[in-house]
Amino acid sequence: MTIGTSIAEAKDYLKKGGIVAIPTETVYGLAGNALNEDAILSIFKAKNRPHFDPLIVHVSSMDEVNKYAYLPQKLEPLAKAIWPGPLTLLLKKKSIIPDLVTAGSDLVAMRIPKHPTSLQLLSLLDFPLVAPSANPFGYVSPTNPSHVAKNLPSVDYILDGGTCQLGIESTIVGLINNQIFLYRLGATSIEQIEQICKEKVQVQIQNNSNPKAPGMLDKHYSPSCQLSIYSEMKNTKEAIDASIIWFGDNPPKGFKKVYQLSKSQSLEEAAKNLFSTLRLLDEHETKKAIIKLVPDQGIGRAINDRIKRACTR
Ligand code: TXA
Ligand code: MG
Repeated sequence: MTIGTSIAEAKDYLKKGGIVAIPTETVYGLAGNALNEDAILSIFKAKNRPHFDPLIVHVSSMDEVNKYAYLPQKLEPLAKAIWPGPLTLLLKKKSIIPDLVTAGSDLVAMRIPKHPTSLQLLSLLDFPLVAPSANPFGYVSPTNPSHVAKNLPSVDYILDGGTCQLGIESTIVGLINNQIFLYRLGATSIEQIEQICKEKVQVQIQNNSNPKAPGMLDKHYSPSCQLSIYSEMKNTKEAIDASIIWFGDNPPKGFKKVYQLSKSQSLEEAAKNLFSTLRLLDEHETKKAIIKLVPDQGIGRAINDRIKRACTR
């Protein structure tokens, strides 16, 4: 495995059916040819991901979206406003997309990511890329090349595009009976979507009892460290042997180590720092940590969603 900035090298591996970690504005993806079943199988294997968990197809233009799926008129304003960007649309697939990609569903998840390196790579390829987040199944998503290198040594190449700008995965949206449904909270906020679509969005986040989309299992994004949510009521004895992940200034005293998501209470900064901070807990061999929820608005909802899943045992 090599880490480098060569788009040509990444392209060569992908053309041969290899798997390459690519940068996006949200998190790093583990990419392979979406039309090549062997490449897709290598991705499932590298991540130790069950085959019933479908993959997002990445392309570089609206023309390509239309080549692989049917975009309903109702979702066009959203696609036009956000793409390239942190939005994934669940669309009726065309037959060229293998069933392995969608776990047998007739809907395919599609997105145009916003990262100059990966957009250029995609535009040079004559096939789309499947790219789940480049982490072992259930672990914290990667937001820089070294995160990928640490957990997925079997990838052929890591295309270095620096640290991800947003740090939280794309928001997943689809239609049911012509109504807009949100399936995963992400870096595009509900407020933004409602403003663009001029209607209320129904939120249907899957839970453990119905794991149709396992990215939405209760437990996900979990560090090995024992993590729980901060509450002011908790006994201060907790603090003695625990570290704390804090949002804002003035973290409470007495904790072993303090990690800051954003001293200035910026939700964007907190989103960008969340996954790398969760990973730091494990790097520092932290046994126990407590994490503060952020205000439940804008991208804060997605941050809290990831925090709660990371705390689930
Ligand atoms: O920001 C992102 O979306 C990142 C970057 C790399 O693009 N990708 C990402 O992929 O988060 P992944 O595989 O970690 O999460 C994709 C989620 C999973 O929960 C999966 O179950 C769901 O999308 N999904 C994918 N295809 C689907 C489909 N056809 N129907 C329902 N859910 C789908
Ligand atoms: Mg993931």
